[in-house]
Amino acid sequence: MKILVTGGTGYIGSHTAVELQEAGFEVIIADNLSNSEAGVIDRIAEITGTRPAFEVVDLTDVDATGKLFLKYPGIIAVIHFAALKSVSESVERPLAYYQNNIVSLLNLIREMECQHIPHLVFSSSCTVYGQPEKLPVTEDAPFRTPWSPYGNTKQVSEQIIRDVCRVSSFNSILLRYFNPAGAHHTALIGELPLGVPNNLVPYITQTAAGKRDYLRIFGNDYNTPDGTAIRDYIHVVDLAKAHVAALTRLVERKNTQQAEAFNLGTGKGYSVMEVVQSFERVSGVRLNYRYVPRRPGDVEQVWADPSLANRELAWKAEQDLDEMLRSAWNWEKRLMER
Ligand code: NAD
Ligand code: UFG
Repeated sequence: MKILVTGGTGYIGSHTAVELQEAGFEVIIADNLSNSEAGVIDRIAEITGTRPAFEVVDLTDVDATGKLFLKYPGIIAVIHFAALKSVSESVERPLAYYQNNIVSLLNLIREMECQHIPHLVFSSSCTVYGQPEKLPVTEDAPFRTPWSPYGNTKQVSEQIIRDVCRVSSFNSILLRYFNPAGAHHTALIGELPLGVPNNLVPYITQTAAGKRDYLRIFGNDYNTPDGTAIRDYIHVVDLAKAHVAALTRLVERKNTQQAEAFNLGTGKGYSVMEVVQSFERVSGVRLNYRYVPRRPGDVEQVWADPSLANRELAWKAEQDLDEMLRSAWNWEKRLMER
């Protein structure tokens, strides 16, 4: 079964391509390499023994997107990762985010309709919930006004997909990721942040590697046990496996609604300080950090109720926080060698 993976040379897409190939799917990757490198294809091939087809395509280009589908007839489903993803950058460059994330989705759905491809798995985010009133957060929690253009692109994209599903035979699964972390156990693929990382785990590993002077911990005055903010970190390989489960549900027509949303998290929240302690434990490296004021736009605490995904997708996150930090550190060390 041929699956198109957009954004497949990126962080989550590359791990998912590995899991898809290992589950027997034929993978075609389309990426414009705006935030990844083509060498990832070699490393997917090294891990799985199979080289996925790869096309450099900008999905905001309607003609190029059309040609992609014509070149690969017989695609049965699309997993759409391709997007710009920095919350802070989106505040500075809102038009770039709306243009890239919304136009690429519209082009993709239009081409899927033309080619009668009925299944779409979409990368959404727990940012759609903002600071939820009840924790753990369930899928029926109301959307909050997004705090960034990036968050808004995820809300709008979910709405576009739901609207299309209402008037066609299109089926979609919207996967709301909590905080992906870690890397493949081979250390051949992982997160490759360009420039200064925004996210906690790459910032920790780059600090330990000597690329950054110290980690700034944004806020130690939150209403949490140690005063630092709480998130639900999920191993990227667990996340990747959930995509295989979602895709299988769609192609086997086991979905109960045309647009279904699932939380992908572990169901456990960890504070920033606990993440730092986990890193120190598994790496044996003392981390240089300082408390600084809260980062604007951050919510205090959020973690998932993943029971719907556990039940309906027959999937469960298995790897713990230590494993996320251990694999992220191994990946960082591999990058230093390179
Ligand atoms: P990433 O930047 O590593 O991967 C995204 C890939 O999409 C990159 O390889 C980039 O080159 C490509 N891309 C971007 N715009 C494109 C376009 N117009 N045409 C073709 N390719 C394009 O990001 P990631 O962390 O792997 O995130 C994947 C998806 O998951 C994104 O949609 C992101 O918004 C979403 N998400 C990520 C996180 C996270 O913390 N990493 C959390 C929630 C949701
Ligand atoms: N943090 C620090 N120092 C840093 C970086 C982060 O203290 O240098 C803190 C943040 O303040 C926050 C926690 O670590 O409390 C996690 O921050 P991240 O930036 O790693 O993650 P976010 O929860 O802010 O957001 C991430 C992605 C979003 C995605 C969201 C939910 O950046 O794109 O997870 O999936 F939508």
